Amino acid sequence: MKGRHVTHSFDKQYWDDHWRESVGRPTPPNPYLEEQLAGLTPGTALDAGCGTGAEAVWLAAHGWTVTGADLSPHALREAAALASEAGVLDRVRWVEADLTGWEPEGRFDLVVTNYAHPAIPQLEFYRRIADWVTVGGTLLIVGHLHGHVSDVRHSAPDHTHGNPHGHDGGHAPEEATVTLADTVAVLDPDRWTIDAAEQRRRSLNMPERELSLHDLVVRATRLR
Ligand SMILES: C[S@@+](CC[C@H](N)C(=O)[O-])C[C@H]1O[C@@H](n2cnc3c(N)ncnc32)[C@H](O)[C@@H]1O
Repeated sequence: MKGRHVTHSFDKQYWDDHWRESVGRPTPPNPYLEEQLAGLTPGTALDAGCGTGAEAVWLAAHGWTVTGADLSPHALREAAALASEAGVLDRVRWVEADLTGWEPEGRFDLVVTNYAHPAIPQLEFYRRIADWVTVGGTLLIVGHLHGHVSDVRHSAPDHTHGNPHGHDGGHAPEEATVTLADTVAVLDPDRWTIDAAEQRRRSLNMPERELSLHDLVVRATRLR
């Protein structure tokens, strides 16, 4: 199946407009965090492309000291409100940044990214954020697989981009989807242990639609 043709760039304007239009459609943190990170001792964490903050706030509530970074000021304002509601303001900071050029001041014990697709090639983005994991730390990538969302009730692609966290468009654009094998191949086996590499399906029930999601999940530990 071919992806929809994308005529725009995934730039700051695109994402900020997207989040303005998504107001009032908050969704819970994705279930992979709990599943994949349960055994880890909390330390410092980066959520790369944190959007409105559900995952960053989840991490903070589970003891991590979190940096949530995103291109969209609107998303970060919502994220800050969520952190306040959750009572975790002291464990999370928000950074408005273009992660395709930004460099962190230090490394993190955990770097997560959930469905982020910036304007650069997806694998280049994964390679970049992998460098920000400290030795002994963990990288968790949750991403789209091609043709990843469908609206079960209407037997059709979900044109409101039923991604669990509300970005807009039924399918991730083709350039935002990569295979599981390609994603794993980003991680040099001399420097990484692959702890999990899975293609997963899950469903998400929302008042207006029921979505079937097709995701990739890669968790790795940095050796050196
Ligand atoms: C599909 S949303 C996912 C948001 C969130 N992680 C979630 O799972 O709900 C992708 C996010 O990546 C952010 N993003 C895209 N390109 C970026 C970039 N170059 N630097 C920082 N964030 C970026 C967008 O603003 C958006 O919030």
